[in-house]
Amino acid sequence: MAGSSAAALSLENVARRFPSKARGSALFTAVEALSFEVRSGEFVALVGPSGCGKSTILNLVAGLDRPSEGVVHVSGEPVRGPNTHVGFMLQKDLLLPWRSIRRNVEFGLEARPIGRGERTARVERELRRCRLTELADRYPHQLSGGQRQRAALARTLAIEPDLVLLDEPFSALDAQTKLLLHRSFARTIVASGVTTLLITHDLSEAVTMADRILVMSERPGRIVEEIEVGLPHRDDPIARASLPRARELMAHLFHSLHLDDRVDA
Ligand SMILES: Nc1ncnc2c1ncn2[C@@H]1O[C@H](COP(=O)(O)OP(=O)(O)OP(=O)(O)O)[C@@H](O)[C@H]1O
Ligand SMILES: [Mg+2]
Repeated sequence: MAGSSAAALSLENVARRFPSKARGSALFTAVEALSFEVRSGEFVALVGPSGCGKSTILNLVAGLDRPSEGVVHVSGEPVRGPNTHVGFMLQKDLLLPWRSIRRNVEFGLEARPIGRGERTARVERELRRCRLTELADRYPHQLSGGQRQRAALARTLAIEPDLVLLDEPFSALDAQTKLLLHRSFARTIVASGVTTLLITHDLSEAVTMADRILVMSERPGRIVEEIEVGLPHRDDPIARASLPRARELMAHLFHSLHLDDRVDA
């Protein structure tokens, strides 16, 4: 049921159509017939081909865009505009270059009615959780790409969101940094207990981090498959990656997305 108390997020029969470029022609359907729920505390990954509407869905959930049909609920409330209880992280960290890491983490709290003591406590807690205490007085340009993404996560968690949306936050990083950051994010997210929706093209990332994976079709994007991951080590993607079931799931996803019979890139 949409808005049921256990669901942190629910989409009910959601479609998003955009005006078509060609004048007078039919609307362009980015996504349609989308219904799914994310339970409180769950980590769900959304995978699908480029252009199938993944970022469109995140924008609808964050309240940055409105569905053409259907309804989105966050924490049981219909989304009617930008939602301050939702944290959003992108490939680009969007840290403010003139602020120290500590002041960047604090940024989202400044517009909220939170006392100074509580604000400082939250900032220090997230810096610790994201292993940034030692780097807190540095500026963004003095950090590596992985450290910057950890700072962006700390800033996102400091607002104590009901839901965190991650739109390919690891995709600009090299393979090794990415693996380490997967583990760092998984630990932080598990420790905070926050509900998470991750968009990724990286199938191994989906399998090693998520509790459940939703697979989307080519445009117009629909959910074509739902996979319960059911693997141990929620907080250790590197340990998960070597499990036989993880490899099976990756092979299965590879097949589901028709990557085995595509030759173009
Ligand atoms: N504001 C907009 N106006 C018109 N078309 C749009 C708009 N936003 C997205 N689209 C179109 O909707 C489709 C889905 O876009 P979206 O960015 O959601 O895809 P995606 O799955 O995130 O792709 P990628 O994996 O490449 O990031 C695309 O064809 C895109 O061009
Ligand atoms: Mg996208």
